Amino acid sequence: MGKPKVYVTRLIPDQGLDLIRQFCDMTLWQDDLPPPRDVLLRETHDADGLVSLLTDSIDPELMDACPKLRVVSNMAVGFDNINVSAATERGILAGNTPGVLTETTADFAFALLMAAARRIPEGVAYVKAGKWQTWGPMLLMGPDVHHSTLGLVGLGRIGAEMAKRARGFDMRVLYYDVFRREDLEQSLGLTYAPLDDVLAQADFISIHTPLTPETHHLMNRDRFSKMKSSAILINTSRGPVVESDALLEALRSGQIAGAALDVTEPEPLPADHPLVSLPNCIIVPHIASASAATRGQMAEIAARNLIAGLKGEPLPSGLNPDALGHGRSALPKDW
Ligand code: DGY
Repeated sequence: MGKPKVYVTRLIPDQGLDLIRQFCDMTLWQDDLPPPRDVLLRETHDADGLVSLLTDSIDPELMDACPKLRVVSNMAVGFDNINVSAATERGILAGNTPGVLTETTADFAFALLMAAARRIPEGVAYVKAGKWQTWGPMLLMGPDVHHSTLGLVGLGRIGAEMAKRARGFDMRVLYYDVFRREDLEQSLGLTYAPLDDVLAQADFISIHTPLTPETHHLMNRDRFSKMKSSAILINTSRGPVVESDALLEALRSGQIAGAALDVTEPEPLPADHPLVSLPNCIIVPHIASASAATRGQMAEIAARNLIAGLKGEPLPSGLNPDALGHGRSALPKDW
């Protein structure tokens, strides 16, 4: 009996690949860019398992093109690229990598907040352009971070870690979430408020929601109009939570003061997109979880989810345990 066939859609850290190689017959897409759709459909047709990234759309068409597929293991905490209910219907297990990237992502969200407030990228560009002639009493002033108000939209794991960092800077922290977290209100000194109140009171708004039909374009024209004109938006969640055109308008008109984005709509944002050239908008290429240690751990969890699914065991971080023992996950294995 051979090993199960798995397809890995990009080069991921060895912590994951080494485990996968031990147990599986692995095909690895080595290009820097994701496999094109036709390649993905073709290459996965006989796969028992798939390690996907947020750049791969794992939809019913793909699931039906790979009739043996039993497990899809996403190397990301977000899983809006996977149609989980379609996977469950087919008995395909799906997994993600929560937990290990929480603090790393919160560190980065706070770094974006600091960089935007204190205008660090503008300062770097100023020096590189040879404009630094003297100490300037009016040069590149921005708002203070300490003792300001942070508004969190979404208080999951990463939002809560962002709150901890903010407390270290003596910030007042407001939050809005569909689930009220009185435990965290107590332990972290947070205040719950309706979304419009959070938007109206905060100096910094940081988005920490998953992308769902309910959060798609949550930050739209109407929501920007509720924010302070001095406020800065930080987004490390998913690009489409913020409507790009509305953000562009809000930044250009001075409706809000600035934005710092790790994620964009569309993603990647073309270099000639008007948001890219705005001086009050920082954009980085979706790297909030990109510490070497965290990406290694994400790869390892993705591998462990994959292997568990192939064995017909519950995934360490499963998204649809109901799929276990039904449909594909219950079929006899031919490896
Ligand atoms: C995720 O895991 O969902 C991030 O966006 C990438 O680390």
